[in-house]
Amino acid sequence: MKKNILVIPGDGIGPEVTTWGKAVLEQIATSFDHEFSFDEALMGHAAIEATGNPLPDETLEKAKKSDAILFGAVGHAKYDNDPSLKVRPEQGLLKIRKELGLYANLRPIMLFDELLNASSIKASILKGTDILFFRELTGDVYFGDKVRSEDRNTASDLMIYHKYEIERIAHKAYEAAMQRGRKLCSVDKANVLESSRLWRETVQEIGKQYPEVETTHMFIDNAAMQLIKDPKQFDVVLTANLFGDILTDEASQIAGSMGMLASASVGDGTGFFEPIHGSAHDITGKDLANPLASILSVALMLEISFGLKEEAQLIISSIDRVLKEGFRTNDIADDSTSPYHVLGTEEMGKLVLKYITQKTYTN
Ligand code: IPM
Ligand code: MG
Repeated sequence: MKKNILVIPGDGIGPEVTTWGKAVLEQIATSFDHEFSFDEALMGHAAIEATGNPLPDETLEKAKKSDAILFGAVGHAKYDNDPSLKVRPEQGLLKIRKELGLYANLRPIMLFDELLNASSIKASILKGTDILFFRELTGDVYFGDKVRSEDRNTASDLMIYHKYEIERIAHKAYEAAMQRGRKLCSVDKANVLESSRLWRETVQEIGKQYPEVETTHMFIDNAAMQLIKDPKQFDVVLTANLFGDILTDEASQIAGSMGMLASASVGDGTGFFEPIHGSAHDITGKDLANPLASILSVALMLEISFGLKEEAQLIISSIDRVLKEGFRTNDIADDSTSPYHVLGTEEMGKLVLKYITQKTYTN
């Protein structure tokens, strides 16, 4: 298979982890006789420094022409502490999502048994959890009008949804539910928000087209609590942009760490694959970042964008083997991890590569 992949390393730990995602793609190409060619582009703080623009036109053009995009992270401490800055790294990410029409963000909560004790939630509650989040990605307060009064003392962000935006992601989520446990929980705040009432109404309508799927509706506050109380009750969770952003950071603790969670943003064109974690300036350049979320994002790319299931499975098996042998990065090490088994970014990346090369499958 011949594919062009655009790599956007971004900021902070983005370049460190993306290096390993890309290395895994290169190894998969060698092992399975594919031809993957790579190009690179700027986004976020790195792009602002170089061009003044968080999403240069050149990046967007390359993105539109590629078959898939591997992205790292955007953000910089300087902006977090100065809300008055007008040009911000995150604008690059939001704009590329909108421009590429990436309206569905899939965030699988994949649990490796070895990491049950890395979570702050009890292993008995977690074991067997397998959730696929569908977070809407191109609507909501993220893209509604933002207003600041002249005296600067009042501000608002418009929470807005159009029916077609809810319909198209609901279809994607139901189609996925049909392939999984046939349960879909739609999360909203319909007791308070009009946009959530439209959301619920629309999901109820679309749900009628999938009678085999059991649909439930939950308010966001309750869902945040249920996720910790009994995560196994969920199969597919469908929710809006802001609620999904918050709920999936929470859900990452089920998998042990933000450093383990991959995501796929898809729509009608090129797919965009990225870890859910941010740029993590506090650990940047210290060889402490966990590259597994980037590597798992590559597995999602191979499966979702290219239909390469065996290749994706090999990546997951190789990670499974690394974990079974006791190796951990700092973020997923628990009290029982031997100090000799705590690896830096580079050692972890190399070990996964080695096992991919050996083609050992676990199940
Ligand atoms: C995410 C991030 C982004 C978001 C930020 C960096 C704009 O938190 O991808 O979850 O809020 O969508
Ligand atoms: Mg987030």
